[in-house]
Amino acid sequence: MSALFSPFKLKSVILKNRIAVPPMCQYSATDGLANDWHLGHYASLGRGGAGLVIVEATGVAPEGRISPACLGLWNDDQAAGLAQVAAAIKAGGAVPGIQIGHAGRKASANVPWEGDDHIPESDPRAWETISPSPVAFGANLPRVPREMTLADIERVKADFVAAARRAREAGFEWLELHFAHGYLAQSFFSPHANKRTDAYGGDFAGRGRFLLETLSAVREVWPENLPLTARFGVIEYDGSDEETLAESIELIRQFRARGLDFVNVSVNFSTPDANVPWGPAFLSPVAARVKREAKLPVASSWNIDTPALAEHTVATGQLDVVMIGRVHLANPYWTHEAAHALHVDRPDWVLPAPYAHWLERYKRNA
Ligand code: NDP
Ligand code: FNR
Repeated sequence: MSALFSPFKLKSVILKNRIAVPPMCQYSATDGLANDWHLGHYASLGRGGAGLVIVEATGVAPEGRISPACLGLWNDDQAAGLAQVAAAIKAGGAVPGIQIGHAGRKASANVPWEGDDHIPESDPRAWETISPSPVAFGANLPRVPREMTLADIERVKADFVAAARRAREAGFEWLELHFAHGYLAQSFFSPHANKRTDAYGGDFAGRGRFLLETLSAVREVWPENLPLTARFGVIEYDGSDEETLAESIELIRQFRARGLDFVNVSVNFSTPDANVPWGPAFLSPVAARVKREAKLPVASSWNIDTPALAEHTVATGQLDVVMIGRVHLANPYWTHEAAHALHVDRPDWVLPAPYAHWLERYKRNA
């Protein structure tokens, strides 16, 4: 019996297995609109066998995109394009999810293959960046953002709510709030980025306020029977790890009390000076601690790239769902191959019938 290929139920949603494709920016949109690239890309991932496919970081506002080529969900045309993407994922047999976020001080950047750095302010493609405090990220992203006013804070919360509503109308069944990776929400919680002295900064309660209020506001519009989840960086690897982890776990407990159903545990990426211990499944023990102490089901990713390692993280109870990213870019059918490697003989846990029927017969007769 494979733990990885057992179903996972959350609210009214059933994932056919514990493998998910995490959000991965495609940097291929114009004006935030999904196009043929997104349709083909997500359709292939949807039928590749993973139980859940989460569409890439999608901006809740124009200035919340990482790059000019990122997806958006601030208007109805964008929602219509993403409805086709959600339908294509579902037709392939996976649950369609989407990540919505605001890039904060990391916004207005060139796409990775054109530099991955801030677009010069003199360039007409650039826009003003905002953040809790006028503190630059540094390294390749040196631009000093404008400090958000209280009106900005209210507007961005409302943008999250409007995007969540559109995501539901577009047919997504799993919503992930992007509270990680040094973008706007993570910046509110990080002492590296948040130097405010008002109610949205300072102590634990102040730094957590924007995230908690955003979550509560989204919960009001996101259906109760569907999973509301967040990707949250819980550790920075900057030398203050025990303190950051303890604070993060306490905040996740408060997320749970406000209706969060699941957390995708990640790294903060709020400073370029972190010393991340990259290695196979390095974050899984951290995610397991979050699961134990915050009492929420968890997923995580980062360098889990063999069927045996993915199986191990679920079988040992560290993760409820494994996010498998880059290997799915190399091979959208990775989950299918993993099922064969783990001798899973229930085709309905992997591919939909039009493929599974023939492939199982082909395998038997080979
Ligand atoms: P970079 O992708 O520029 O990576 C910074 C350094 O960390 C590089 O030396 C890089 O090595 C190394 N590194 C990054 N990921 C891995 C990994 N999985 N395994 C081993 N080494 C790694 O940093 P960014 O700040 O741009 O992104 C931080 C992380 O967030 C990245 O891992 C990236 O995959 C992810 N990301 C998140 C996005 C989002 O949340 N919307 C968007 C894009 C990326 P090397 O130079 O060899 O790659
Ligand atoms: C990412 N990642 C990422 N994370 C996220 O929360 N939202 C996003 O939109 C993106 N975009 C993105 C684009 C690309 C090209 C890469 C490679 C990564 C991080 C991603 O979800 C995942 O956590 C990492 O790739 C680590 O998992 P793997 O690839 O080691 O399985």
